[in-house]
Amino acid sequence: MMGEKGKKLVYIGSDHAGFKQKAELKSYIESLGYFVTDIGCFNEESCDYPDIAREVSEKVTENAGAFGVLICGTGEGMAMTANKFKNIRAALATNEELAEMSRKHNDANVLTMGARITDLETMKKITAKFLSTPFESSEERHIRRVNKIGQES
Ligand code: RB5
Repeated sequence: MMGEKGKKLVYIGSDHAGFKQKAELKSYIESLGYFVTDIGCFNEESCDYPDIAREVSEKVTENAGAFGVLICGTGEGMAMTANKFKNIRAALATNEELAEMSRKHNDANVLTMGARITDLETMKKITAKFLSTPFESSEERHIRRVNKIGQES
């Protein structure tokens, strides 16, 4: 789904640990030509990352083709929560290669990163790689495997 003026949608969220980086990343993603919606948090007061991960996951689920970007201290809690949603494939990336492969082979639709793990400039590079890399949808094996991720256990 496209947002304002046909731009692709990105929903971004963080807890307190990623609040500052989220603001920087939101502007950066907008500069890449995406329509970015900030789901919170909106200050540095301590908050619970699952609440933000849940809301971003719901938005990505509701808007086909949208991406989510989630930042907490490590990226772990955001990934764990987002991956509980059936149609979410959240990838925790600490470098560009992980981001690229999560798109190419796993059709990841949510990127998570750790503000206490990865510096801001690297986060920007990871985000750009994630958003610009297409899923290798011509490869039957990737489609088959991604469909298996979504199977109920
Ligand atoms: C908050 O202190 C921290 O636990 C959280 O940001 C995140 O790293 C959890 O996965």
